[in-house]
Amino acid sequence: MHPEKLIKIAIESMSRAYAPYSQYKVGAALLCADGTVFSGCNIENGAFSPSICAERTAFAKAVSEGYRDFTAIAVCGGKDGVISGIFPPCGVCRQVMREFCKDDFLIYMIDKEGHYETRTLKEILPDSFSL
Ligand code: THU
Repeated sequence: MHPEKLIKIAIESMSRAYAPYSQYKVGAALLCADGTVFSGCNIENGAFSPSICAERTAFAKAVSEGYRDFTAIAVCGGKDGVISGIFPPCGVCRQVMREFCKDDFLIYMIDKEGHYETRTLKEILPDSFSL
């Protein structure tokens, strides 16, 4: 699948974010090896710690539906849903990627022009921990 298609899904997902506390809306689109895409948005909680990032929402949806073979994820976010620059995945999300993805898993980080920067999981999580 062309990255542009995945990026469009991530941007659409951002509009579904539930972020009344930070106002930062984040969207993700996770591409499986067979072409299936799972979207995700961040879902905040008044008790704060139950909040979940957009990327992990997408992974939880995919894994719970029996998908474990992933190729790429597109991510975007910004205050009030306005993208002002790339929105790199947090450390917890990177570790969740590590659980299911190889070093060459691709992360597309979308900027305000709708362009994207591409990184591999190895690049954003070097010397990673896994069992
Ligand atoms: N957030 C994500 O959804 N993904 C990330 O990788 C970083 C942070 C969310 C969590 C919270 O709802 C908001 O962005 C501000 O931190």
